[in-house]
Amino acid sequence: MRVIVADHPLISHKLTTLRDKRTDSPTFRRLADELVTLLAYEATRDVRVEEVDVETPVTKARGIKLATPRPLIVPILRAGLGMLDGMVRLLPTAEVGFLGLVRNEETLEATTYANRLPDDLSSRQVYVVDPMLATGGTLAATIDYLVERGADDITAVVLIAAPEGVEKLRELTAHINVPITVVTGAMDEKLNENGYIVPGLGDAGDRLYG
Ligand code: PRP
Repeated sequence: MRVIVADHPLISHKLTTLRDKRTDSPTFRRLADELVTLLAYEATRDVRVEEVDVETPVTKARGIKLATPRPLIVPILRAGLGMLDGMVRLLPTAEVGFLGLVRNEETLEATTYANRLPDDLSSRQVYVVDPMLATGGTLAATIDYLVERGADDITAVVLIAAPEGVEKLRELTAHINVPITVVTGAMDEKLNENGYIVPGLGDAGDRLYG
């Protein structure tokens, strides 16, 4: 599993406002949207492409376009929805599938309550979006499921991650034989005893939609 911390002053600047408890919901939504655009730039570095001919006003040339099958974007409901538009803006031809997972705040176990994905994911490059990687349970369950359905390249785009969760995810996905990449805007300090990222940004779902 490859982990990329996309540290860029613009990302850190926007994340700082996002973390601020005084930031209201409309601002939080706008910032999450802007951040995913910046992170997606890094996350799509290895997006599959194919060569095409293009005729410019001057000459014939070779260019590239996104390859088929189209990439699939999967926001994890609910908070991942706040990152969907930004991702689609960068990959406008992508298909979108939905997974709903919720973490039990006592056991920290993730369970799936909604699933609307294309039937066949074989040979699909998948971009999962979710603002937070805390214990890693949600992302591990998501990746397991996507691979079981045939996905053969998975990139998760998160706004912030906890080091413990990243290590747990590494362990939980060690048996998986497809490339897995996590792109995060920041690697935070730690997880607290309640499974919250520290310093973190609180509950992203509540701050986006609560
Ligand atoms: C949050 C977050 C991730 C998950 C991360 O969602 O958006 O999906 O927790 O936690 P983990 O790494 O410990 O599994 P939550 O379960 O709060 O649901 P929500 O998006 O509906 O608010």
